[in-house]
Amino acid sequence: MAKKFHIRTFGCQMNEHDSERLAGMLVADGMEPTENLESADVVVLNTCCIRENADNKLYGTLGHLATTKAENPGMQIAVTGCLSQKDRGGVLDRAGWVDVVVGTHNLGSTAGLLRKAVTDGPQVEILDAPDPDGDLDPSLALHAVREASHTAWMTIQTGCDNTCAYCIVPAVRGGEISRPLDDLVREAEMLARRGVREITLLGQNVNSYGRDITKRSPMFAQLLRAVGDVDGIDRIRFTSPHPKDLRPDTVAAMAEVDAVCNQLHLPLQAGSNRVLSAMRRGYTAERYLEKLAMARAAVPDLGVTTDIIVGFPGETEADFERTLEVAAEAEFDSAFTFIFSPRPGTAAADLSDQFIDPEIVSDRFARLDTVVQRAGLIKHEARVGMVERVLVEGPSRRNSEVAAARTTQGKLVHYQPSDARALQAGALVDVKIVHGAPHHLDGEQLALVETTKVRRRLEVRS
Ligand code: 5AD
Ligand code: SF4
Repeated sequence: MAKKFHIRTFGCQMNEHDSERLAGMLVADGMEPTENLESADVVVLNTCCIRENADNKLYGTLGHLATTKAENPGMQIAVTGCLSQKDRGGVLDRAGWVDVVVGTHNLGSTAGLLRKAVTDGPQVEILDAPDPDGDLDPSLALHAVREASHTAWMTIQTGCDNTCAYCIVPAVRGGEISRPLDDLVREAEMLARRGVREITLLGQNVNSYGRDITKRSPMFAQLLRAVGDVDGIDRIRFTSPHPKDLRPDTVAAMAEVDAVCNQLHLPLQAGSNRVLSAMRRGYTAERYLEKLAMARAAVPDLGVTTDIIVGFPGETEADFERTLEVAAEAEFDSAFTFIFSPRPGTAAADLSDQFIDPEIVSDRFARLDTVVQRAGLIKHEARVGMVERVLVEGPSRRNSEVAAARTTQGKLVHYQPSDARALQAGALVDVKIVHGAPHHLDGEQLALVETTKVRRRLEVRS
């Protein structure tokens, strides 16, 4: 009987996509996925280490798994991803019941190591440098087991060449490596042939995509245009661009390529120039707002989201108030807000003499949350009466008779579908927005849009 595996993913979209690729690899190795962790033969924890609570979550989960494994001694446990890369053999020191530890540079070794562990005992394999042929092997994406059929992630680049003082990513994931443009276009074509209509391009700093290939200028705008030319791909999103590297050619491609969505996730991190400089972000608040204005001028009705960190070492009340001001001026649609978490080995972790009192931090965090929530609600309410073309995700989580869909800005819309086709993942539907809530919109269905880009082109030709 085939072995059953269960993957639990922590962290970002890149990890979610790595888990899909991992699932494909395990299926190719003869295993079957299962929803049920307790009865799985192989449990993979694909980990994150961006903030301390991600570490705590992993070791907490491993604690529970010790009991599960005691009841099911045949179970194998693999820990993959960023935290393995950071803690290496230390994972086994803290949780001796783990069978395999694989880092971020050699995801493709997981299936082989699980087999080896059966006969040879626990395996730890961490590479110090990225292996371009291993982790980014296109065949991993080809066989990926994707949860959704209409939308897919595509990793365009791994690693990061920046040195943001708070961030552990460069130490863990290494320097930037871009995948060849031709490979990416082929992958997008393969996805389109399988019915995918929306692709999200993933990288730590997507707008420097290709700089390591050309050794000069980035090729992100070129990539947007090339993927935009792929028949069947109606929507392209990307995350995340770095504000300092957002260039006019990228913004022009966003404006000119029909498929590129009206959505920009542009991490601000802080509003005070003093803090931005201490964070080594490479821009001032004024420059950030200029870049945003450039994008908004080129792409009308652009949905803008951001990341903001509260409580960076040395952040004064005045610094924080500047963050509130800049956030209000930027008029974000929504913001992911984080409390600064010192990460071992980063420059900011050495500033412990300037750490902020946790009570002050949580007060600031709550104040920021109020400001961004209010701004988001105002944005949502302003959309009432508009007609939006949405891509259907399927039935909503709360009510299976209500459809959940996304606007080009990436906003979630709920509406009552006219029939089964208007509830089907991948359908394009026009809806009129009738209500704006803090985290979603409600709409009324208008037309079901039949034409994909492929059909539109055929119609134009005939
Ligand atoms: N503490 C808090 N937030 C962090 N982020 C990255 N590192 C840290 C840290 N040490 C946030 C940044 C980044 C997002 C993905 O996570 O805002 O954009
Ligand atoms: Fe981390 Fe900065 Fe790189 Fe983003 S750009 S991954 S925040 S170092």
